[in-house]
Amino acid sequence: MNNFINISDLTKSELRSIINSAKKRKSERGKKPNSQPDIDQPFKGKTMIMFFSKPSTRTRISFDLAVRQLGGSSIILNEDEIHYGKGDETIKDTAKVLSQYADILMIRTDSHEDINEFKKYLEIPIINGLTNLNHPCQIMSDILTFEESKGDIEGKTIAWLGDGNNVANSFIEAATKFKFELKIACPKKYQPNKKIIEFAKKNNCNLLITEDPYKAAKDADCVMTDKWISMGDKVNKNKKKKDLKKYQVNKKLMKIAKPDAIFMHCLPASREEEVTNEIMDGPQSVVWLQAFNRIHAQKSIIEWCTK
Ligand code: CP
Ligand code: NVA
Repeated sequence: MNNFINISDLTKSELRSIINSAKKRKSERGKKPNSQPDIDQPFKGKTMIMFFSKPSTRTRISFDLAVRQLGGSSIILNEDEIHYGKGDETIKDTAKVLSQYADILMIRTDSHEDINEFKKYLEIPIINGLTNLNHPCQIMSDILTFEESKGDIEGKTIAWLGDGNNVANSFIEAATKFKFELKIACPKKYQPNKKIIEFAKKNNCNLLITEDPYKAAKDADCVMTDKWISMGDKVNKNKKKKDLKKYQVNKKLMKIAKPDAIFMHCLPASREEEVTNEIMDGPQSVVWLQAFNRIHAQKSIIEWCTK
């Protein structure tokens, strides 16, 4: 049994095997409808419980489809539906109880510490479906999408523009493990997590952090961004949007990247803020494939956790 909480917890070869097995399963099922199971149904008779204390479109649906394709079933709970969410049952007791009912737990919560607390008491694996600190499942889908579009990610260059948020934090861990160059452009006060930057530096990650969006985007194979205001972000929203204005991904900025560069966004997007409609809906954008690949990357994560 394995937990999937931070990209940095896994070895390079474990991460690579998850991506490769996602590619294999995806190609083996061909054009089967999304709700139809894979032939071998490795999760048959098994259950995933999902708990969301923040909204979700992609994570919720793609995990449900992932479990179905593996032959299992899922139970989806929102914060106001269970005692833990309302604060009248401890994480310890909730973890003990959920362990009686399910084979794996997926949680999206604000506090990364809550995930670590669950891990202490659970008797089943836990998957992190986004916290204030990181979003590892998203990044596995993004690696899969990048490689389907541009080949092996090792040695390639990714530019991240805008807020140094939870998704950026997981990207730094991924760059460290998968050995790609990551150039992050953001204002000093919105830089990614300091400890994660330290981890990357200690492990020889090819990481640049700059305030200049053009320096980051130069000759990149992929340009990426995310919402400037994340869920639960307690900031002066107007001030932050103003501070991030020059990091918008638009036609002028995409021109700095390689001519065949792709554009990625984990979604949801605030169109015309961090990215223009022209880029989001343009020929370089792979955002819908990213969303689709959540299913395939997560099937592989579930298999790795429960093996
Ligand atoms: N990218 C992502 O995690 O989307 P949701 O918030 O819709 O799950
Ligand atoms: N950074 C965003 C990602 C949403 C999938 C947020 O945390 O709201």
